[in-house]
Amino acid sequence: MAPPPNEDGTTNQQDSTNDQHPPISTIVIIIAMQTEALPLVNAFELTEDANSLFPKGTPWVRYHGIYKGLNVNIIWPGKDAVLGVDSVGTVSASLVTYAAIQSLQPDLIINAGTAGGFKAKGACIGDVYVASEVAFHDRRIPIPVFDLYGVGLRRGCSTPNLVKELDFKAGKLSTGDSLDMTPQDEASIIANDAVIKDMEGAAVGYVTDLLKVPAIFVKAVTDIVDGDKPTSEEFLQNLSAVTVALGKAVTRVVDYIAGKSVSEL
Ligand code: ADE
Repeated sequence: MAPPPNEDGTTNQQDSTNDQHPPISTIVIIIAMQTEALPLVNAFELTEDANSLFPKGTPWVRYHGIYKGLNVNIIWPGKDAVLGVDSVGTVSASLVTYAAIQSLQPDLIINAGTAGGFKAKGACIGDVYVASEVAFHDRRIPIPVFDLYGVGLRRGCSTPNLVKELDFKAGKLSTGDSLDMTPQDEASIIANDAVIKDMEGAAVGYVTDLLKVPAIFVKAVTDIVDGDKPTSEEFLQNLSAVTVALGKAVTRVVDYIAGKSVSEL
């Protein structure tokens, strides 16, 4: 927005750069699993909302506080009301992303979580990736143009300085609602040129693109999808150790963000 004119009709120019690129003030971190969220809740010394911002009956949880001058919010979709497990997957991820943006108006969204990695593309257990692009691999609609809609490719916020200075791996992320991978999923993941696969990223990307909020996707590898171990076993075996690595990585990202504008990332 242009600054208001002075009484003589002139405008002050010196603040125009800051007006266009204000420092990031409010961030929302979307995390699907409580195990992934708690190390960060502790690192940032956040507190759980006593009165939910969200519609009555939803299990969605906000932890918030001030960390290094940033208003930090972690949103966890909570436990399924009937089954008591984390509300993982694209439906809950898109709903909480929408609700969090509507109520908190963040300057930046970070979707943090675990992912499967492809060793053929160089991924190893414990690696942390910042995803440059997100797309779906399980929305097959073989009709012209609907096929592209199904893939739903979205770009993450450009973060060349962050990736370089914090020495993260960069690559594309493919999202689907299953932990395992069918041969059809595999073909779509290859077509998406993805190095990691998760269950939320592209859903978060759909909403952040719709509402024009910059988004960063930070994913830590718990299992090797093209390896010889069953995915669910390897995932559960590595979850707690990789969650610690994810917590450290996201803390470094937030430390880096503090005091910067989105265009400096
Ligand atoms: N999260 C962690 N590992 C995953 C995998 N292999 N597929 C989807 N989401 C995951």
